[in-house]
Amino acid sequence: MTEIVILAAGEGKRMNSALAKVLQPVGGQAMIRHLIRSVRALGPEAIRVVVGSGAEQVEAELADDGCEFVVQSERLGTGHAAVQALPLMDPGARVLILPGDMPLIRTETLEQLLACPADLAVLSFVPEDPTGYGRILRDGQGRVTAIREQRDASAAERAVAEVNSGVMCARAGDWVSWLGRVRADNTQGEYYLTDCIALAVADSRSVEAVVADDPDELLGANDRRQLAELEQVYQRRARNALMDAGVTLPDPGSVQVRGRVRCERDVLIDRGAILEGEVRLGEGVVVGPGCVVRDSTLAAGTRLEPYCVLESVRTTGACTIGPFARLRPGTELAAGVKIGNFVEVKNARFHSGAKASHLSYVGDAEVGERANLGAGTITCNYDGANKHRTDIGADAFIGSNTALVAPVSVGQGATIGAGSVIGRDAPADQLTLTRSTQRSIRGWQRPVKKG
Ligand code: UD1
Ligand code: CA
Repeated sequence: MTEIVILAAGEGKRMNSALAKVLQPVGGQAMIRHLIRSVRALGPEAIRVVVGSGAEQVEAELADDGCEFVVQSERLGTGHAAVQALPLMDPGARVLILPGDMPLIRTETLEQLLACPADLAVLSFVPEDPTGYGRILRDGQGRVTAIREQRDASAAERAVAEVNSGVMCARAGDWVSWLGRVRADNTQGEYYLTDCIALAVADSRSVEAVVADDPDELLGANDRRQLAELEQVYQRRARNALMDAGVTLPDPGSVQVRGRVRCERDVLIDRGAILEGEVRLGEGVVVGPGCVVRDSTLAAGTRLEPYCVLESVRTTGACTIGPFARLRPGTELAAGVKIGNFVEVKNARFHSGAKASHLSYVGDAEVGERANLGAGTITCNYDGANKHRTDIGADAFIGSNTALVAPVSVGQGATIGAGSVIGRDAPADQLTLTRSTQRSIRGWQRPVKKG
């Protein structure tokens, strides 16, 4: 039986933020959510999160995540935080304790630690720069004797390259015994979880440090610089996963994945694209340079020309979008649709072959098959109080610079003369226009500048 305790009550002072540290995002998601996903895959009996500083924020973020919360009302250190969870532990359980600020750890690595038979097992690693981490101290035979925090370490101890990831595993009863004896006799006056190592050694219990293969996984984020490093590691992983799935990234380092992106084969994501939330790209989709795509599903063959911004968009067939198009929530485009430059679409459905090629706003509308919206077509969907719908029939042709004052409908095959303001329904197959007669004034003189 395994139980999990995540320590997430710290203030995260070094982050200098109004947001609780464990909620700082990596890959567009709170750090602690990544961690919870990894530990949940172990199938634990319980996941308990120790909260304190920013408790309401953390509890709100994890409200639907099935975790239990334990409150640490004073910040007296990682050992003190772990003590708060002791009364809830099943005496027979193995309890895995993790810091909340290490989002990159994989389930497989945690399994390696759980496979270690020692009474107290700690996951260690050798980072490029050990500054700030607790050092793993070993005796002449290589046996772990203690963990020394950076602040309390001698120069010789600081030279040790192997550090504590903060992840430890032991039986509940042992945690009770060791944590009950931890003293706050260090430079910070805090109760350190890490002191359990020396206490276990003093009890002649078996203690082992399992060295992780990939140090990047165990990086913790105490400040924004470390957060940025974690982000880089996360992005590299996410891009590699995309490339393994058959996606071409001509300039991988420039692409950012901030959510869950699923791609079919031969998708191309060009430089500077940002993908956020739940994104699904069908076979052969092209995401042009500089595009931002959030929570959208694009059917096979959809092409985003450069610099498009999409949010909650669905395409159901191959269509072309952009450059410089903005597609807002509720946009649905069928096969053969063309949305051109400087076109904004919101809550509107374009049926197959419909086009809005230049400079338009189409909101709360239905655009029939093959309908063509000329440059500058605007749906006036908002009267200052309510939104109204515009219905454009199949094969309609809307002349340039037309204002469609909703609620209004344009019949199938109707033609609207350029520059019209259409406030009443336009019948099918007829030309409708509201245009004043053109006049020319003979002999008219241009004004001239005075003296
Ligand atoms: C800790 C370890 C260090 C290890 C490093 C790994 C200790 C004393 N030090 O240092 O050996 O190398 O993690 O990243 O354990 N927390 C609470 N309540 C508190 C204090 C902290 O819940 O009173 C939580 C924090 O929210 C955080 C976690 O415990 O999620 C670790 O605390 P942090 O201050 O980040 O410890 P480090 O200095 O990084
Ligand atoms: Ca930390």
